[in-house]
Amino acid sequence: MSGPGAIGVGAPRSVRVTGWGSYVPERILSNADLERLVDTSDEWIRTRTGISERRVAAPHETTATLAAIAAKRAIATAGLAPDDIDVIVVATLTPDYPMPSTAALVKEAIGNTTAAAFDIAAACSGFVFAYATADSYVRSGMARHVLVVGAELLTRFLDFDDRGTCILFGDGAGAVVLSASDQAGGGMAGLELTTDPDGAYMIWLPSGGSKSPPSAETAKKGEHFIRMEGRETYRYATRTLAASAVSAIEKAGWSPDEVDLFIPHQANVRIIEAVAKGLQLPLERFFVNIDKYGNTSAASVGIALDEAVAAGRVKPGHKLVFVAFGAGFTSGAIALEWTADPTDAERGAAVEPLASVRAPLDWASVDPIPPRLAAVLNDPSGPPVPLDDVVPGEPEHAHLEEQP
Ligand code: ACO
Repeated sequence: MSGPGAIGVGAPRSVRVTGWGSYVPERILSNADLERLVDTSDEWIRTRTGISERRVAAPHETTATLAAIAAKRAIATAGLAPDDIDVIVVATLTPDYPMPSTAALVKEAIGNTTAAAFDIAAACSGFVFAYATADSYVRSGMARHVLVVGAELLTRFLDFDDRGTCILFGDGAGAVVLSASDQAGGGMAGLELTTDPDGAYMIWLPSGGSKSPPSAETAKKGEHFIRMEGRETYRYATRTLAASAVSAIEKAGWSPDEVDLFIPHQANVRIIEAVAKGLQLPLERFFVNIDKYGNTSAASVGIALDEAVAAGRVKPGHKLVFVAFGAGFTSGAIALEWTADPTDAERGAAVEPLASVRAPLDWASVDPIPPRLAAVLNDPSGPPVPLDDVVPGEPEHAHLEEQP
């Protein structure tokens, strides 16, 4: 099959997750590393957020290459070939470029020649929004196999002078394949998606769009970095995550205590604890891996799902809830019944973590690593990097050694 077809042609009896996979870059940025950049401490970060470390992409990696590795793993786990995929949906707030879409680059990188490919912008809720979109394509009969990827390279959009944001975020990608099935049951049973523009400026990236195009002035003002009102976002998240999850669970006809595992967006362990408390469920019912990766935005639910399956916490017949919130404000929850054999993941695990995306031969970009971060990564046992060492947004770029 080539690309999405006519609505309702061969509508399936169910839409199931047949493949899943993830990828995180090798390089670790610890809380101790961040102590050298901003006035913070390992103790503060761990107790206020639950984060111990996060990953940083190498200079040659981009959002599309992270996405492509996770995608190749998910497709292999599904037992499919790249050209079996009819639609590619990439959720990201850190695309390689404003255009073309990151999904177009992922299509090439995974060796697919047939799919329609496009991006979705719903920030940290992106994976859930993309999953819902993919499910609709398959459910309507327009596609048989849809690839969903949440991928982020957030460390290139952080102000490493701002301790309120730079400690929170990391890089990575998570993917699933949704497939048509002739068997009834399984897959998404309840969905809730919300968008509340009252929160539009609670987490935002001011410049680079049509309202404030990129210029020397916007760069100097540091307007190409993520800004966030942490406390307001925290309040919104704790309110909304539980409400979204409950709504999706009710639409599925379940009760919260029937859910075997919640796979929430990993933004702050205290938010996850508050949701568990609100639903009167033990924290063990929630998968948590924020300690290792921080907040990877649209990637976090996909990465967490992959790790939850690998850890033996997801079995056929289990009732799962994916739940996320993010900039917009957006939130989303999916209640689904898992049907796939966890051992299928062995096929995905055999995929080498390699992917590349073409760039024009006559074009060379700047060094993509923020200078103060580069200073820490290049000299792991060095002294603190003074705040006024490099003004954020200044055009010069420190050189980061290429990964082997
Ligand atoms: N290290 C040390 N101290 C810090 C740090 C830090 N990294 N950051 C802030 N502080 C200080 C503050 O300055 C403040 O000091 P003061 O009392 O002297 O003024 C104090 O710690 C408390 O600050 P709060 O902002 O109240 O800290 P809080 O407990 O709220 O934690 C945090 C901050 C972690 C950002 C929290 O608010 C949070 O997790 N918010 C939600 C963020 C989120 O989930 N974002 C996800 C969506 S992102 C997306 O969609 C892209």
